[in-house]
Formats: sequence, C-alpha cells, structure tokens
Amino acid sequence: MDYNYKNLVIDNIFTEDQIEDIYKHIDSAKDDQKYLQEIFSHTAYLNWLPQNIVDRVVEVAQSTTDIELELRELSFARYEKLIEGNPVQLLPHRDETFREPRLTLDIQLRASRSWPLVVEGRTFVLEDNQALTFAGTHQVHWREKIEFNDDDYVDMVFCHFSEKGVEKEVLGPYPESDAHLGEHDQKMREKAHYWQKVYNES
Ligand SMILES: [Fe+2]
Repeated sequence: MDYNYKNLVIDNIFTEDQIEDIYKHIDSAKDDQKYLQEIFSHTAYLNWLPQNIVDRVVEVAQSTTDIELELRELSFARYEKLIEGNPVQLLPHRDETFREPRLTLDIQLRASRSWPLVVEGRTFVLEDNQALTFAGTHQVHWREKIEFNDDDYVDMVFCHFSEKGVEKEVLGPYPESDAHLGEHDQKMREKAHYWQKVYNES
C-alpha cells in the first residue's frame, strides 16, 4: 500500500447466494449499528458481515498482492438521497483516520445507476459485483458529481486491510493541526490539487 497503489477492477466477487446473505444480514442490523453519514451521503451498517463473506473478501484482496493482509474494517453502505435538496456526493478525500496503510477493496453490490469512482484522476465505473482496489490512506479518491433521483441507490461493501503485523500508527499521529504534519500527512497535503480542482468545479 503506497502512494501509487495499483487500481484493479475485479469481477465476480460474490455468488448470488452470498449477495443474498449480505442483504439478509443487513436487514437484521439493529438501529444502533446504522450510522447516517450525511457528509458522505450514505448510511453505514457497522454490524460486520457473515464469516463466509469475510472469507471471500479476504481471498479476493489477498489474490491481488503478495503482502500478507489482515482485514481491519468491514461495512456495508447505501448511498442515496438522504435529505431533499442536499446533493449526493463523495468529495475528494483520503482516509486519514487510519494511521496504518490501508488497502481498500470497494465492492459494488447492487446499484440502480452507475456512479463513476475516481482515484487521483483515473475514473472507474463499477458494475454490480465488481470491486476496485486502491490505497485509501495514500490515494485521493472521490465520486463524480451526479444527480441522484429519489429512488436511486448505490450499495457498497467497504473492506479495509492492513499488512499483517504492521507497526501501530506507523503513519504518525492523527494530524490535529497543520503546524506539525508528519511525513505522510505532508506528502498527502502535496496532493491537494486533486481536491482543489474538484472543489473549484462544484
Ligand atoms: Fe474513503
């Protein structure tokens, strides 16, 4: 996982049965496991996922790299128009809450429409049951600006992996201020042109 991590599109992540398993599991989520994240236009379901799903996403991610991976975070999320008048959007960002490098496997489960994903200027349009790899901590990523209709949705499974045995907080402490940025945060700051360009267009 680094600043130029390979972005692979992978087909056929789950079987139909596994997709059904995920939706059944999501339907049983308790209210306190559902997090409305207005800033990201989605509801996150933080009730982990069944073991057969975990095994499969680990298998898929591990097939893309020789680095021995450990699954650290796993969630389902539904993007939709949450609040009338608010655009559905995912602005450029990097996953700065993680303080160890992460390999992200973004899986599109089902969607009513296509919604291009962009990693540092490279655009990917996922189909259902396809996944994209990128380094969420090291690569700026976002979604293209589009209009969602009232009944539009995009269902995703987010999987975040780190290297097995990685030193804790190897990327340095969370950047509380600009005054003392560590090396990693400084490097990411140098990528500000990615978000400045999109912010200027929006
Ligand atoms: Fe992200």
